[in-house]
Amino acid sequence: MTTRYRVEYALKTHRRDQFIEWIKGLLAVPFVLHSQPTGVFEARGTVADMAAEACRRYAEIMKDVEEMIDDHINHQDDGLQHQSKLKLLVPSIGNFFTRLPLAEAFKYQDSLRFISSRRFVPPSFNDIRLILNTAQIMGVAAAGALDLATFDGDVTLYDDGKSLEPDNPVITRIIDLMSRNTKIGIVTAAGYTEAERYFERLYGLLEAIRDSKVLTIEQKHNLVVMGGESNFLFEYSISSPHLLEWVPRRSWILDDMLTWSEPVIQALLDKAEAALNECITNLSLSALVIRKERAVGIVPTIQGAKFPRESLEETVLVVQKILEMSPVSKTLPFCAFNGGNDVFVDIGDKSWGVLVCQKYFGDRLGRSIEGKRTMHVGDQFLSANGANDFRARRVATTLWVANPDECVTLLDEVAEFMRAAERKRV
Ligand code: IMP
Ligand code: MG
Repeated sequence: MTTRYRVEYALKTHRRDQFIEWIKGLLAVPFVLHSQPTGVFEARGTVADMAAEACRRYAEIMKDVEEMIDDHINHQDDGLQHQSKLKLLVPSIGNFFTRLPLAEAFKYQDSLRFISSRRFVPPSFNDIRLILNTAQIMGVAAAGALDLATFDGDVTLYDDGKSLEPDNPVITRIIDLMSRNTKIGIVTAAGYTEAERYFERLYGLLEAIRDSKVLTIEQKHNLVVMGGESNFLFEYSISSPHLLEWVPRRSWILDDMLTWSEPVIQALLDKAEAALNECITNLSLSALVIRKERAVGIVPTIQGAKFPRESLEETVLVVQKILEMSPVSKTLPFCAFNGGNDVFVDIGDKSWGVLVCQKYFGDRLGRSIEGKRTMHVGDQFLSANGANDFRARRVATTLWVANPDECVTLLDEVAEFMRAAERKRV
């Protein structure tokens, strides 16, 4: 029998972030107690008074959560993260790479979004997502320099399926980071084996780096593209026709990836392809199966046609489950995700992609690049099932954006807080 729990799980868990929902619940209490919806027709206290009180209470709660995260980090340091109070309250919580100054971040976002002044709309999912982003930027700034910034492509740097064109405002922000010696990795699921294809998607940025007057030649070469999540590496090369040069796998592969043998890879992709075909039949999808060297996916048969969102989600969850149950997935990481209007299964995932960038640039620096000095910016964090940026949380701090404009705003925040932290240190 299908229990209520299973229905709830199947319907909701893959579309919720437990930590954000939990904070939202905590902030709902002061909202109910202190907001004054009757203020719109009754003169009882000023909005400013109400906002000041609500702000104080929200900030207190955020401070309490901040301290709970500090306690979790202390447990982490002792290898006891599974016993922290936060873990008990939010079982899906992972590891933190830095402190999160949530109270300060709340005040910052409140000054931009006027959360405390609202009388009818409580602190929302997006309010909290943005507070967490700000807190993470503040945390990285306080912990030291940002050695490596990695970016997802679609929906993060440019709109879904589009390219990074010369007028994209993110370009000047990325060049600013590079001028401060931050290394850049574009860690995208888009899996191509030729530099030309990535050039087509990223040419605005690649050409701006070539033409930049502020970057040194050495800084210009501090960019890599990691394609297919963790499968194809290209490094910036000013002398190459497409400004990117293929890096042979043997020169960047991590020791832990050596066991990813070709027969196992093909066996996993066969299984995934069969599962995708099953979904095409069951959901009557008008889809083409695309099989690549390190991926298999479905796209609409007719260009421009849209799959129903529910069918995409169902397909991801079915394929994910079938692969998880199969012995071949026990020895090989994979990532099944909903790309907005396609579903792909890639070998490896973005945690491996970011790890490779950390090691690749770490070798150049002669020291390892730690998670607390790495920031991955992406749009797909909703849950392990069906979201590919989520996996990067295993190895780096992360920022969760909803669209490319937010990515630009966040990079301005990064510059602001990094500079403030530098000023504090001198
Ligand atoms: P991302 O947002 O940069 O990670 O790119 C994800 C999108 O890349 C997917 O939605 C697909 O449309 C596209 N894509 C192209 N080739 C591949 C592949 O081999 N694996 C996964 N996604 C791919
Ligand atoms: Mg994306």
